[in-house]
Amino acid sequence: MARYAHIIGWGMAVPERVLTNQELEGMVDTSDEWITTRTGIRTRHIAGERESTASLATEAARRALRMTALSAIELDLIIVATASPEHLFPATACLVQDAIGAARAGAFDLSAACTGFIYALNMAAQAIRSGSIQHALVIGAETLSRLVDWKDRNTCVLFGDGAGAVVLSASDVPGGVLSCVMRSDGSGANLLYVAAGGSRYPASPETVEKGMHTIRMNGREVFRFATRVMASSTREAVSLAGLQLEDIEVIIPHQANRRIIESAARGLKLPLDRFLINIDRYGNTSSASIPIALCEGLADGRINPGDHVVMVAFGGGLTWGALTMEWVGVEMPVTPRARWRRRFLRRLARLRSFLVRILRKLEGLLWGARSHPRSSAKDRRRRHE
Ligand code: UT7
Repeated sequence: MARYAHIIGWGMAVPERVLTNQELEGMVDTSDEWITTRTGIRTRHIAGERESTASLATEAARRALRMTALSAIELDLIIVATASPEHLFPATACLVQDAIGAARAGAFDLSAACTGFIYALNMAAQAIRSGSIQHALVIGAETLSRLVDWKDRNTCVLFGDGAGAVVLSASDVPGGVLSCVMRSDGSGANLLYVAAGGSRYPASPETVEKGMHTIRMNGREVFRFATRVMASSTREAVSLAGLQLEDIEVIIPHQANRRIIESAARGLKLPLDRFLINIDRYGNTSSASIPIALCEGLADGRINPGDHVVMVAFGGGLTWGALTMEWVGVEMPVTPRARWRRRFLRRLARLRSFLVRILRKLEGLLWGARSHPRSSAKDRRRRHE
């Protein structure tokens, strides 16, 4: 029997703190008028001290799971698409896995900048459709405010923080993820990047002094590239799904600049009201922008069963891609028993994680010393001489 991959749960999380254009006027040489007319952004959410990519991702994941009858233990795979991971490693996905108690899931991060969510959704959908897994959690999560140079007006007015998550499940109901195109062009790697902190330029006083740990961007070039690929990849994904552009009810574009979205609409000869746009309130949240817009589109009734939906994005790498879905509205009724079971298993997973940490510490104390041969008094004397 054919298997299809459907979104059965979704959730988003944004920090409470809202940064307005007016506040930015006091930080760099800019104006509300410039930001609004050139980008469409009015406000963005900025992570507080206690928030991070993992905490936002975890909150969005919990909300997505709560919409389903699933417990985290039933997840087979967690992918976090992010350009601002919690650490270089371990993967942010592993931190989410532990926090939600998904004890049987594989977990990894996917780095494709703003296109990350589309890549991740496609990877998870392919794993489901091939029959190798049943349920996946796909998250786009960012705290780009931590990578922004707050003195650079070219970038600091653009980005915001947030996370969006979906639960993707196998079903024999036709629909769900229909097609995807994923593209890249590393010759444009120097158009949008954070230079240091990796193996090429490890952190040093010099990299910090030169501001190499913050986002650098050639905005004009990225803009030109974006307007080119948004329309072409949408066309390609729609055609791969065996559909026509007229069949598409909703387009969820990456929210980088309202003018880029308007240009894509013109290129595709589609009315702008077919595009979900929320950049005014969130700014550019990179890999989180599409799942956040998806959550809002579903909450507002903009996406309904039977709709054909295209998600389309571009970003650093350079990367770009588009994914076509048929929104069937496959539901997994949440019974009180399922809710109780989920709560119970979550507590159990938390206890398990706590006990495993204690056990690891105890093992370290008991066996750790013995794994290194004890030095004799003679050796110690020799070392001191
Ligand atoms: O998710 C992918 C990540 N990035 C993007 O998608 C960004 C894509 N690019 C863009 O959205 C646009 O290129 C920007 C919004 C970044 C810039 O808009 P633009 O219309 O391309 O402006 P520009 O770079 O051509 O700059 C025009 C002027 C410049 O002044 P001069 O050289 O003409 O005197 C800039 O210095 O606007 C100036 N400018 C600003 N002025 C006030 C740049 N940033 C600001 C600012 N406030 N924040």
